[in-house]
Amino acid sequence: MRKLIAGNWKMNGLVSSQAEIEALKGLTGSATCDIVVCPPFTLIDRAVERARDSNLAIGAQDCHARQSGAHTGDVSAEMLANIGARYVILGHSERRVSHGEDDGIILAKAVAAHRAGLVAIVCVGETRHERDEGRAIEVVGGQLRESVPEGATSANLVIAYEPVWAIGTGLVPTNEQIEEVHAAIRQMLKERLGNDGQSVKILYGGSVKVSNAEAIFGLRNVDGALVGGASLKASEFAGIISAAI
Ligand code: G3P
Repeated sequence: MRKLIAGNWKMNGLVSSQAEIEALKGLTGSATCDIVVCPPFTLIDRAVERARDSNLAIGAQDCHARQSGAHTGDVSAEMLANIGARYVILGHSERRVSHGEDDGIILAKAVAAHRAGLVAIVCVGETRHERDEGRAIEVVGGQLRESVPEGATSANLVIAYEPVWAIGTGLVPTNEQIEEVHAAIRQMLKERLGNDGQSVKILYGGSVKVSNAEAIFGLRNVDGALVGGASLKASEFAGIISAAI
């Protein structure tokens, strides 16, 4: 399957960061994988303009479930689609923890993303405690069951497995642990979506860097990565992209 490498800039980036978009744009011509950058809301419009005439896709890090209305500070999926965003990350553990987002909220947001024609990148992952209790697959399975909309397809859904304890910590599960969870996610997607579940991309996220990317991308059910810190510098992100080509 063609790999997808997505960068999540989180709350980083100023107008000057557009230079990173310009640098990545140059890579998309030859890349045999799909590349997405998800900057903060403030930079999406500019990034879309910068990425025009290239295969670099721009996404957002969240959206509201409603189309419009009295929701101070929120941005709808339709607004994102309107300015040319094509993807939206949903259910990131930082949003689950800091904004109290549960699976029901994430499901509603994923429905909204699909309504607006966006690809939803739905994040799932266990905490350290849940892994230590041997419950990683059970937790991830529950999150998937509760947050993937009925009728999702491989064209509008991507799953990102991000163990919470691996995010920004430099800790990474063993390759066997990653493959075990990805294989379980693949099985659940097939049960849920039928044959098309086989084609839904499953990304790994959590301390991906140039030095570990190639080994992770070599795993059977890993279809790419959702990269945080290492996506902030185009040169580093480019190294990860090269590992996927
Ligand atoms: O969404 C990406 C993410 O949470 C992983 O972050 O910095 O560990 O690559 P990082």
